Amino acid sequence: MELPFAESYKMKVVELIQRSERCEREEWISIAKYNLFNLRSSQVFIDLLTDSGTGAMSDKQWSTMMLGDESYAGASSYYKLKDAIRDITGFNYFLPTHQGRAAENVLFSALIKAGDIIPGNSHFDTTKGHIEFRKAHAVDCTIDEAFHIELNHPFKGNIDLDKLENVLKKYPRKRIPLIIVTITCNSSGGQPVSMDNMHAVKILADRYGIPVYFDSARFAENAYFIKLREEKYRDKSIREIVREMFSYSDGMTMSSKKDAIVNMGGFIGFKHKEHFEKSSTFNILFEGFITYGGMSGRDMNALAQGLYEGTDFHYLETRINQVAYLGKQLRDYGIPVQFPFGGHAIFIDAKRFLPLVREEEYVAQTLGVELYIEGGVRGVEIGTLLADRDPDTRKNRYPELELLRLAIPRRVYTNNHIDYVAAALINVFDRRNSIIKGLHILKEAPILRHFTVELERV
Ligand code: F0G
Repeated sequence: MELPFAESYKMKVVELIQRSERCEREEWISIAKYNLFNLRSSQVFIDLLTDSGTGAMSDKQWSTMMLGDESYAGASSYYKLKDAIRDITGFNYFLPTHQGRAAENVLFSALIKAGDIIPGNSHFDTTKGHIEFRKAHAVDCTIDEAFHIELNHPFKGNIDLDKLENVLKKYPRKRIPLIIVTITCNSSGGQPVSMDNMHAVKILADRYGIPVYFDSARFAENAYFIKLREEKYRDKSIREIVREMFSYSDGMTMSSKKDAIVNMGGFIGFKHKEHFEKSSTFNILFEGFITYGGMSGRDMNALAQGLYEGTDFHYLETRINQVAYLGKQLRDYGIPVQFPFGGHAIFIDAKRFLPLVREEEYVAQTLGVELYIEGGVRGVEIGTLLADRDPDTRKNRYPELELLRLAIPRRVYTNNHIDYVAAALINVFDRRNSIIKGLHILKEAPILRHFTVELERV
C-alpha cells in the first residue's frame, strides 16, 4: 500500500477553541455591525480571517527568543537576522520594521511623491493605501487570465508585459519611481508569479531604468509553485529558487507575519546602498533605530529562524497541500473558487455563489456573514468594501472579482478543521437561493474602510 501524505510536524502545545450556537452568532454579528473584524476571537470557532501573524511558531523559534539581545543599537539579534536575510534573499542591506505596511511606509516615503505612477500586479490594499495616501496612483498590470476564475493558468499572478510597457511608455521615467511585483499575488487569489515573468519584468524595467521591488509576504509559497509548475526548476531547491527570484529585483518589502511564520515583524531588503540610506532616515523616524526598527531582539531571532523554516520544502508541501485540500472539497461540490488554488487561501467567487444578491449590496461580505452564522467560521471580504472608493470620484470601485477569502494560518489547524469549514460552506451553498438580500453601509472611513466599516442588513 502506498503511504499517504502526512504533516511534516507534530504538536507540542495546543490552544482550546470553542464552538457556539447559531443564535449566539446571529446576535454577535449584529452587534459587530456585520463586520467580521469587529468580532471577538472567542466568538469564532475556526478563524480564517487571515494567514498573517496567525501561524504557530516552532520549538526552535520559541527557544531562540530566550537568546534575544535587547540592546538598542548593534544587537546580536540584528546581525543574526541580517545574516539570515542575506543568506535566503541575497540582499546585503536591510531595515527591520514592525510589519509589512511599515516597510511600505518607510520605502515609499523615500521613493514616492504626489502624482507618481506605480505599476504592479493587483497591489495589496495596504500597498495601494500607502500609494494613494501619497496622492500617487497604482496601476494594475496583472494578466487578464487572473480574472477568470475557472481558467487554468499556472501563474495567474503574472504581470502582462504589454500592459506594463504601455505604462512605462505613457509616463515619463521620473514619474515612475518603482514597479511593485507582489509574490504571491494576494489580491488575485494567492496566485504565483513565474520565474520567467519576474525575469522579463526586470529586463523591461532595466530598459527604462526603473527599479523593481517585490512585495514578498509569500515569497516562499511562490517559490514552491515555481518548483512544481516551471519545468526548469523541478530539481532546484526552494532556497535556490528564492535566490534567483530576488536576483530579478532591486529590493523587497516583507511582511514577516506570513512566510517567515512569526506573529509580528517585517523588513525591507535592498540591493542598492542609495535606497537603503535614503530609507534609513524614515526608518528612524517611523519605526526605530536601524538595527531594530520596531522589533524586539527576541522577535528578530524568531524571524531569522522562521525564514529558514518557511523555505523548507516539506513544510511548504504540507502547507500548500492543506490549502488545496479545502479547495478540492469545495470545487468538487460545484462551489466557484479561484483555480488553480492559491498558496495561502481559497478564494470564493461570491457573485457566482450568491447570484441573487445585488452588486451594490456587498456580495462577498454577505457571504462571509452567512458562513460565520452557519458555522462560526470567519473569512474575509476581498471585494467592493476592500476596493474602497475612487479617491477622485468617491464612487464605489467594483473590482473584477468579488471574493470571499478563506486564509489558512500556518501549522495551526488540522484537516478535521478543514472538513468542518468545507461542510459549513456547503451548507450555505445548499441554501444560496434563499439568500437574496445583502448589506448596506452605515459608517465608513475614507481609506482602508473594510477594517472598521459598519453595516446593516438590507
Ligand atoms: N503585502 C501583502 C501581499 C500582504 O498580503 C500584506 C498583508 C501586506 C503587504 C501588509 O503586511 O499586514 O504585515 O502590514 N496581508 C494581510 C492579509 C493583512 O490578511 O492578507 P502587514
